[in-house]
Amino acid sequence: MVTTQVIHSVAELQSVLNKHKASGKTIGFTPTMGALHNGHLTLMQQSKNENDISVCSIYVNPTQFDKKEDLVTYPMTLEADTALVQTIGVDYIFAPNNTEVYPNGMDQSVEVDLNGLDEVLEGAHRPGHFAGVVQVVHRLLDIVQPHHLYMGQKDFQQFTIIQQMLDALEMPIDLVVCPIAREDSGLARSSRNERLSTLDRARACIINQTLQELKEDLNNYSIQALLKKAEERLTWSWTNLEYIDIIDGKTLLSIAKQEEHDYIVAVVAVWIGGVRLIDNLVLRR
Ligand code: PAJ
Repeated sequence: MVTTQVIHSVAELQSVLNKHKASGKTIGFTPTMGALHNGHLTLMQQSKNENDISVCSIYVNPTQFDKKEDLVTYPMTLEADTALVQTIGVDYIFAPNNTEVYPNGMDQSVEVDLNGLDEVLEGAHRPGHFAGVVQVVHRLLDIVQPHHLYMGQKDFQQFTIIQQMLDALEMPIDLVVCPIAREDSGLARSSRNERLSTLDRARACIINQTLQELKEDLNNYSIQALLKKAEERLTWSWTNLEYIDIIDGKTLLSIAKQEEHDYIVAVVAVWIGGVRLIDNLVLRR
């Protein structure tokens, strides 16, 4: 079994990766913010399966937090994370500090046309979030220069925006999107689930159930009727629905008539027990 090596400096990481690249090895890269769970590990496992060398990053990127308090309270668990990553046999963990990632300061944004993908859904509710995500993923890709990049379908808008960035900047990297890892109840895995009480964690399975029901009903109802039903299902004294929508999987825009689209996705954000949870399900592709 490979011993996972933790590297903090850009220069050291690039030096080891350059040697691997020079000998023709392929590199798979999984960026994360740590507080790892099985969802993250499925991405790393896929990277292991498909590449000679696998790298993950653990870096809590300050520029993507729209609320300072979320940044301050974000769990930092490098030791436990390292032990988990080791079980998969990932070769390198890149765990840089802010100066390594942003040697010229944090106000250097990436100039790229995102076609409005960053303005809807999460972007509308979290101002500046995707500019920060694009900035850090761009920088991390510049450092690692992997062949394959692994991201989760859990953050549907995030991977769509990163694919747009790769296309717009003609970056020669294949984005591999991995399916949503779920708990037995169907709740999408997230580090935020740990903050739910046992009762709320059990209740939160309603999110996935609602998405599944939307899929079953797709051919029998209009979009408007589907959304009304789903909204009703997600309205309880213990839920606070931020949005549920049925969108085109390419443009991320709300759709009105399903006949006019061949890639249809349901997306949802809901608060339960003071925790904001997001999920999605491809209804048709
Ligand atoms: P983080 O929330 O740590 O997630 C890292 C990656 O794990 C993302 O690609 C995310 O979609 C994926 N992931 C999280 N939960 C998942 C689940 N249940 N099933 C499948 N994949 C899952 O997303 C970020 O970090 C950051 O924005 C980052 C891209 C690292 C930039 O800072």
